[in-house]
Amino acid sequence: MTGRFITFEGIDGAGKSSHIGRLADWLKGRGHTVVVTREPGGTPLAEALRDIVLHRSMDAMTEALLVFAARRDHVQQQIRPALAAGTTVLCDRFTDATFAYQGGGRGFDLAVLGQLEAWVQEGLQPDMTLWFDLPPRVAAQRRAAARAADRFEAEDEAFFERVRQGYQRRCQAQPARFAVLDAERTPEQVWCQVAQTLESQGW
Ligand code: TYD
Repeated sequence: MTGRFITFEGIDGAGKSSHIGRLADWLKGRGHTVVVTREPGGTPLAEALRDIVLHRSMDAMTEALLVFAARRDHVQQQIRPALAAGTTVLCDRFTDATFAYQGGGRGFDLAVLGQLEAWVQEGLQPDMTLWFDLPPRVAAQRRAAARAADRFEAEDEAFFERVRQGYQRRCQAQPARFAVLDAERTPEQVWCQVAQTLESQGW
């Protein structure tokens, strides 16, 4: 019995987080056992690392090593045991975010990220990744109306353009697990895309 592993990705301001809770309720209504988690984070150790990554200044390699350290603990302590028990795991960001932010945004070596991914995940990949895609300018307008920015949210439009391209590269390399959603639409329209995507898989 193996549960499904579904990840949610997109630049800051894409609006993905609000859909995760709704999808959890929708899946529970269909009889699934669901765990909602996030990265960096998801365990006490990984949440402590999250606080450091989001608020302390550091170089791109340190950032990459810390997000993968957090991921290792999360995968070992939370994700693998849940999947083994047949639970559906909904994770707000995963390794595609590292390729997009540290790889695309910061320009860190993609081959090194690929090596870390192989060591840390030992073959674990999401069954499906919902990529909430929208132009960085629209995302910036949304963020301006929201809360105080962390280290990533404070970056400029060019940074988020590189992050978006980083997601695009991952999507092109592994198209089978990606569903690209038009996050510029209204929340209700985006939700319809989420539900249709899951239904098209028979989930
Ligand atoms: P985010 O999902 O935006 O949390 P919140 O909605 O609460 O602000 O995630 C926090 C930030 O972490 C986000 O700006 C992207 C960044 N991040 C990376 O840079 N690399 C990673 O591997 C992950 C998982 C996140």
